[in-house]
Amino acid sequence: MADSRDRWALILGGSSGMGEATARALAAAGYNVCGIHLDFRAGLQHVDELKADLAKAGAEVLYVNMNAADDEKRAAALAELGARFEAARAGGRDPYVRVVMHSLAFGSLVPFIADDPKAAVDRKKMEMTQDVMANSLVYWVQDLYRGGFLREGSKVYAMTSEGSSRVVPSYGVVSSAKAALESHVRQLAMELGRLGSGITINSIRAGVTKTPALMKIPEHEMIIASAMARNPTGRMTTTQDVANAIVALSGEGTGFISGEIIGVDGGEFITGS
Ligand SMILES: NC(=O)c1ccc[n+]([C@@H]2O[C@H](COP(=O)([O-])OP(=O)(O)OC[C@H]3O[C@@H](n4cnc5c(N)ncnc54)[C@H](O)[C@@H]3O)[C@@H](O)[C@H]2O)c1
Repeated sequence: MADSRDRWALILGGSSGMGEATARALAAAGYNVCGIHLDFRAGLQHVDELKADLAKAGAEVLYVNMNAADDEKRAAALAELGARFEAARAGGRDPYVRVVMHSLAFGSLVPFIADDPKAAVDRKKMEMTQDVMANSLVYWVQDLYRGGFLREGSKVYAMTSEGSSRVVPSYGVVSSAKAALESHVRQLAMELGRLGSGITINSIRAGVTKTPALMKIPEHEMIIASAMARNPTGRMTTTQDVANAIVALSGEGTGFISGEIIGVDGGEFITGS
């Protein structure tokens, strides 16, 4: 059935890697795009180019450079998006957020145990990582739901990794955030389902993908070699693989898929280690 409403995608982490590729793919598929990102001076030119490309594809574009875990900034960003929606409604259109993608990479890559306390996790590192990479999902979905941005047919995706259930020396803090993120997805799926909202939420477990976030992991060479050896397709996952999957899952006929962990990895996970 055709959807006559204006579709927006809200992409948390929309300036790089999987978030950027998905923003581009959804813009090409007719979505407007709101991207939340955290970039400093060196990255801003890239964001300007990306915004121009999205607009060229026909999308209305709103990008906000902020910490996605900041409550006041989240409220301000949603007020800005709400103003865009009001303007669209005044013009006789019916906008809603069809796709939410949580694709934030912002974590402390340190072990739990080290002789030097500064080289190990502490409360601040643990809580900041959990807050950005896991808990922020809940607060965004709460506000989007209460604000009426999400409607029947909306789909929320949270990017997880094999690290939610496997260990790598420097990945313990992020690993715990991924486990929490997957748990938050299950809880939200159950609550949104019981509300009869027609809103679904799933985790997307991407295979190892060359992005700036991967290259920051101290063990990235070992992780890449292992993915190349294990992936039955003989190649690594790309950001385009993830974007294509999200575009397809956001089409029609997927409204009863919720609370799942959906692998987009060519079968990498099932080969074990
Ligand atoms: N790259 C991989 O191999 C891989 C595999 C599985 C899952 N993932 C997950 O996919 C997600 C995206 O990772 P990526 O590899 O595309 O990373 P990336 O570094 O390319 O992109 C991260 C994005 O998050 C934004 N960001 C970071 N901290 C932020 C903050 N506090 N507030 C607002 N924006 C912030 C950045 O601006 C950027 O747009 C992450 O959750 C990551 O754990 C990555």
